[in-house]
Amino acid sequence: MHKVGFIGTGSMGSMLITRFLQSDSVRAEDINILNRTQEKALILKKRYPKIQIYTDYQKLVAASDLIFICVKPNDLQSVLSKTGTVFSPDKLLVSTLLAPALSELEKIIEGRIVRIYPSVTQITGRGVTLLTWGKGVEQEEKEKLMPYLKVLGKYYELPENLYRAAGDVTSCGPAFMAYMIGSLAKEAENQGIPSQLANEMAIETMHGTALLLEEQQLAFQDLIKRVATPGGCTAEGIKVLTEVMPMTIAHVFAATYHKDEAIQKELKKMFLQE
Ligand SMILES: NC(=O)c1ccc[n+]([C@@H]2O[C@H](COP(=O)([O-])OP(=O)(O)OC[C@H]3O[C@@H](n4cnc5c(N)ncnc54)[C@H](OP(=O)(O)O)[C@@H]3O)[C@@H](O)[C@H]2O)c1
Repeated sequence: MHKVGFIGTGSMGSMLITRFLQSDSVRAEDINILNRTQEKALILKKRYPKIQIYTDYQKLVAASDLIFICVKPNDLQSVLSKTGTVFSPDKLLVSTLLAPALSELEKIIEGRIVRIYPSVTQITGRGVTLLTWGKGVEQEEKEKLMPYLKVLGKYYELPENLYRAAGDVTSCGPAFMAYMIGSLAKEAENQGIPSQLANEMAIETMHGTALLLEEQQLAFQDLIKRVATPGGCTAEGIKVLTEVMPMTIAHVFAATYHKDEAIQKELKKMFLQE
């Protein structure tokens, strides 16, 4: 059994820990955690008493085979100032950070690194992890991580220049999809359906839609055709969406692209100042 360390137990860190434990991928006594605000680590310890809490970064690293870094990009520098930037080859660092990109991380850190881009949906065991192996990660280390990736849903190896576009679907996607489905429910509510009922209907329909697409291997267009009979109400609604949706989604992708670029630039400056 591997010892699995987590630096940062916020939304992403606790999601990963919870999923790994619920799927029996790791025993609680093999999990080492460290969070800036200890109370947050203690909440996990209360739920899983055998988890080991650390306050010393280097001790956590020494005690772990895999080390998931789950802090916000701006906090990476403070983590590395405590762990150091040189990691022995038997450690696999798993960066969940949106930034810096792996190619930048490899300039700062000496060691074996893999970058993953997960999603909050993976607490359910469904969802997508994007993945890029760093230089020098051997098959043996890849196999260390595989069992953990498998319980998070599907994973795809991608070059980093495609992360932004893929991440808009897989990682920002849950928020975008929730916004869109929530908007359907909200409008139903505006038209007199009680809020809770509208939400339940929307969620059940979203679930059924995903299952139908998956189970019958339908293309999106095929599903649309199946519902939107010519001359019917859905077809009229689809006409409206066709006018506005592709452009709106292109704006969304452009907005995340620019934000990502700005974050990467800011971090580059931060690390160059070191
Ligand atoms: N959330 C998502 O859907 C998602 C998806 C893909 C990737 N990511 C990436 O995952 C990373 C974490 O995101 P998140 O949503 O989990 O953020 P979060 O909820 O803010 O959690 C970050 C955690 O890191 C802790 N932390 C900050 N600096 C630290 C330090 N120096 N030492 C130890 N712990 C420290 C924070 O502690 P405090 O309690 O003191 O604040 C907090 O608990 C980000 O880089 C993000 O880009 C997130």
